[in-house]
Amino acid sequence: MKGLAVEKGRAEEVRKALLEKGKLVKGLKPLREGGRIVFPITSSISGQGEELEREFEKRPFLRGVNIKIPLDFIGDIAVVKDMLSKEELGSLLSKPNVRTVLLNRGIKGGHRVMGLEWLGGDVKYDTFHRENGLTFYIDLRKAYFNPRLSTERARVTDLVKDGEAVIDMFSGIGPFSLNIASKKKALIYAVDKNPWAVKLMKRNIELNSKRLAGEIIPINEDAMDVKLKGDRVIMNLPFHSLDFLDAALSFLEGKGHIHLYSIFERGEEKQTIRKIEEKTEKFKCELVKGKDYSATKVIGFFDLEG
Ligand SMILES: C[S@@+](CC[C@H](N)C(=O)[O-])C[C@H]1O[C@@H](n2cnc3c(N)ncnc32)[C@H](O)[C@@H]1O
Repeated sequence: MKGLAVEKGRAEEVRKALLEKGKLVKGLKPLREGGRIVFPITSSISGQGEELEREFEKRPFLRGVNIKIPLDFIGDIAVVKDMLSKEELGSLLSKPNVRTVLLNRGIKGGHRVMGLEWLGGDVKYDTFHRENGLTFYIDLRKAYFNPRLSTERARVTDLVKDGEAVIDMFSGIGPFSLNIASKKKALIYAVDKNPWAVKLMKRNIELNSKRLAGEIIPINEDAMDVKLKGDRVIMNLPFHSLDFLDAALSFLEGKGHIHLYSIFERGEEKQTIRKIEEKTEKFKCELVKGKDYSATKVIGFFDLEG
């Protein structure tokens, strides 16, 4: 079928333009070819890149939902990244566990909150979400939440030892902190500069109080300004986490663990690890996992030990 090849650096811009014009085939996965991304297209589009013929793989379907675009379930809210057809919206709303469908127009600003548009169902933006045996109350207009990190939060929780002091530098509504406190007798400093995120985190601590073995201290401040000491630091601010490495190192006083999330260009794993190790000097850095963030970028889950 028809494909449009564009340089990696322009891929996101071209993807959006194709979507707006209704020319992107949503059910098929774009290809990577050297430094270019090839998008499946319905018909010619002049001046955007090179048109060619290619075979494309189907995107996996979500069981029971007849829609072909990325989506997340947060409690009884379905959040989609691209506009839905009437049939797709109807298919989603017919699921018994979906009450509301929202369009995420992108994560914005220093508080990393989704720009949301209501598409169908109950007009609401808040919900209760279950993760690893915990309940989170979340208002998506006020604070960030990503349900796709539940396995990663369980992985980090397993690494924490009883008695540790953990600093969750960008805690949001507290999912890392609460996961850890539910399994480990740790003291967790949960820092976020968004006052709404901290308010929601306090509510979530109360909501789950009977399940917590550890203690969480919520702090509504800029992570750059806090003075804390600990054994382990969690840095989930993927576009800017590297700017906060000096602060994280000062919390650890030269020894401990860091779980760092950072976005880098596909194919630049080694350079990114080198950059992190240069910044942290004595710390050994391992890329535990890389997940697609966009056509050209990857989000890396890095563990550092020093
Ligand atoms: C990507 S979210 C992560 C939230 C949470 N860790 C999670 O997994 O859901 C990043 C969070 O960092 C907060 N943030 C951004 N800059 C910050 C800063 N300089 N100091 C403290 N928090 C900050 C935002 O308000 C947001 O809640």
